[in-house]
Amino acid sequence: MFTDQQLELIASELRTSGFCILRDALPQGLSNALSDLANSRSDYRLAGTGRKGEHSLDTTVRSDQIVWIEGDDGAEREWAEMMAALQLYLNRALYLGLFSFESHFAHYAPGAHYEKHRDAFKGQSNRILSCVTYLNDEWHRAWGGELVIYSDEDRELIRVLPERGTVVLFLSEEFPHEVLPASAHRHSIAGWFRVNGSEHGGADPSR
Ligand code: OGA
Ligand code: MN
Repeated sequence: MFTDQQLELIASELRTSGFCILRDALPQGLSNALSDLANSRSDYRLAGTGRKGEHSLDTTVRSDQIVWIEGDDGAEREWAEMMAALQLYLNRALYLGLFSFESHFAHYAPGAHYEKHRDAFKGQSNRILSCVTYLNDEWHRAWGGELVIYSDEDRELIRVLPERGTVVLFLSEEFPHEVLPASAHRHSIAGWFRVNGSEHGGADPSR
């Protein structure tokens, strides 16, 4: 679970800059268990892109493989509980109205990348807040694989190494970002907090 201090920091950074990077933010036991799971799942599939039902598998855009987290395992449930507590805190602190959280493991094989993109387009998505966390036992700068975050106006803001326990949060519509290719296997969890899309008729589909 996040400490009160971490929660306060997240809320204040999101309020002032719209993004937040926390190092060593996952409890050791949880990060070990998630890393074991990420390495042992055998059902990864090439990730797709596209919005509003246009789905495509274009490895020139992204070439990671993903598997959705459904909460079947103790560590997956603990992860979901940690994110649910964050959701509750942020709803109280920032009135974001977050309704649900979805996430997947991602594996970038050496050379895989995800070109610059936004996780949500204004008025077209109910993804509000993106959360990425890294599960690599060790990472060296020379291996590459950074997450590069840009401002809304496309100015580079920060590069984040995919080091174990680092958690990155950013407003989904505001920040274009990309994953640079790495020379090593790169493991992460990418997740999104959503608002309820039921006003568009029917319950919000989970993804
Ligand atoms: C994504 C994404 C970033 C990362 O999956 O949408 O931007 O660092 N991932 O893995
Ligand atoms: Mn993204």
